[in-house]
Amino acid sequence: MALSATEAITSRRSIRAFTDEEVPDELLRTILTDAARAPSGTNIQPWNLIVLRGEARNDLVDAVQAAFDEGDKKSQENYYPTEFVEPYLARRRKIGWDLYGLLGIEKGDYDKMAAQHRKNYEFFGAPVGIFFTLHETMQSGGWMDLGLYMANVMTLAREHGLDTCPQAAWQEFGHVVHEHLELADDQQVIVGLALGYEDTAAVVNTLRTNRVPLEDFVEFRG
Ligand SMILES: Cc1cc2nc3c(=O)[nH]c(=O)nc-3n(C[C@H](O)[C@H](O)[C@H](O)COP(=O)(O)O)c2cc1C
Repeated sequence: MALSATEAITSRRSIRAFTDEEVPDELLRTILTDAARAPSGTNIQPWNLIVLRGEARNDLVDAVQAAFDEGDKKSQENYYPTEFVEPYLARRRKIGWDLYGLLGIEKGDYDKMAAQHRKNYEFFGAPVGIFFTLHETMQSGGWMDLGLYMANVMTLAREHGLDTCPQAAWQEFGHVVHEHLELADDQQVIVGLALGYEDTAAVVNTLRTNRVPLEDFVEFRG
């Protein structure tokens, strides 16, 4: 029985350890096609994807992990705020410490933190790695459209028994991804997505995140 939209959305979690089970090609194409029913301002459909599997995936992973090891990173200045204010700072810290706590990584153990962070750059073992790019002329509207498309991919993945992890981590190595994949000059690497099947034996996947109550972010008037 396929999951309902509510079940697909509420059962989605960011998965940080995958099995090596392949994702059937037809299923992947169906998900990416159906996700494109996402709305976009004036129907511009600005999303572009590069889907990596097999050798293409492994080669990219090797290139970016080498850059990570050399410290060759460049942050995209328009992604995260230059300074996080409350309540966002506390929320951000909580997920970090919850994750490291679960893995037994203590405060100040930068080597272990780096080793965990490095797993981003192998798509946490997922057999499918996706990069989402936008034309360099796109502004925040295009980013919103891309987010809607990506949310559809993650929900549809759940419907079909798959799991995902959206990954902003790749933007630090956007220049390496861009060069390695020989992307057009006018394309900007926005975000990555790991897609595959959850490794249910992995401790990291026992992480559960909270959400603030409705009253904290919705103001009903009238
Ligand atoms: C745009 C975006 C980028 C993210 N980037 C990363 C990332 O680089 N690495 C990672 O482990 N998790 C990443 N996450 C996952 C978030 O940490 C996660 O969504 C959040 O903590 C809530 O947990 P949940 O997805 O399990 O519900 C990202 C999520 C989003 C939406």
